[in-house]
Amino acid sequence: MSISSAFCYVGAATTCYWTIQLARYLYCCIRPSSLPRYNPTGKDAWALVTGATGGIGFGFAEELSERGFNVFLHGRNREKLSRRQEELQAKFPNIKYKIIVSDAADIYEDVNLIPNEIGDAKLTVLVNNVGGETQAYRGLTELSYQDVRTTINTNATFMTQITRVLLPVLEKNGPSLILNISSIAAYGMPFVPVYSGTKGFVESFSRALDAEVKARGQDVEVLAIRVGSVRSQSNDVDVGLLVPDSRTMAAASLERVGCGLPLIFGYWGHAIAGVSLDFSPRSFMIKMLANTMDSLKKQAEERQAKRN
Ligand SMILES: NC(=O)c1ccc[n+]([C@@H]2O[C@H](COP(=O)([O-])OP(=O)(O)OC[C@H]3O[C@@H](n4cnc5c(N)ncnc54)[C@H](OP(=O)(O)O)[C@@H]3O)[C@@H](O)[C@H]2O)c1
Repeated sequence: MSISSAFCYVGAATTCYWTIQLARYLYCCIRPSSLPRYNPTGKDAWALVTGATGGIGFGFAEELSERGFNVFLHGRNREKLSRRQEELQAKFPNIKYKIIVSDAADIYEDVNLIPNEIGDAKLTVLVNNVGGETQAYRGLTELSYQDVRTTINTNATFMTQITRVLLPVLEKNGPSLILNISSIAAYGMPFVPVYSGTKGFVESFSRALDAEVKARGQDVEVLAIRVGSVRSQSNDVDVGLLVPDSRTMAAASLERVGCGLPLIFGYWGHAIAGVSLDFSPRSFMIKMLANTMDSLKKQAEERQAKRN
């Protein structure tokens, strides 16, 4: 075979691969969500959303309420949770809400008691949303022991432990859904090394758990949603074509439920950003991400200066 025909075969195989990926993503976007499967009567099922007092988590609480789910709101601050509960109750009078208080950054064995708080509620959806980075735009050696621990606990340990204790409940109530919120940072972003690593963990964990529940014949869907930039409580950016608000992000994620994949971009604009990272040479990608992080840092500093 000549070199030119070998290149033709490689080119054709690559084109086929990306065409199939694109067709699969488009199919996932146009097919109806299978979320109603997890609330067949439209009123009895419960969802638990972690980190539900703000940002995307509150968006999930609103969207799930709109779809007839009763909601357990998880957060670390009881007063803030109560205010959010009242707000939701006024908007969705037919939906029931309960509060679960637990600091995801400071997790101990009391996480084992969360199933007691669920009681006999028919929990069928767990949204592992809590996460973030309190020390963004810093290199690894600029972080303290406590910074690293907080980021790993909030993004990875809490998700793992709450899923571990609630999986038996979800299996008993199946069909059920576990939605894990990842980030485009899972590609490996400079200046958020620990956060990036935890989101890589979220994605591998989701794939592994999906395989495990399927191997055990359990009717539990495990889906990780890769998220790009979203306007939220902690990400004070302008909404635009590629940057949705928190509720739009939550709605888009719920639309992907039942797509048949263990990991997917929830919002179409983020998928475009992801594909451009897939296609970029690594050296270009590193420069581009470093510049992006630098300008995000400057924007954050400017906003902070305006607030002070
Ligand atoms: N926004 C983005 O651009 C973006 C991009 C990629 C991925 N994500 C992912 O999306 C998820 C939500 O992000 P977001 O931007 O919506 O976050 P956010 O606006 O900062 O909201 C985070 C929520 O989690 C709660 N929370 C934070 N630390 C907690 C702790 N230690 N214990 C209990 N609750 C805690 C917050 O509670 P308080 O109200 O008490 O602070 C709040 O309810 C995260 O997993 C994040 O990594 C977001």
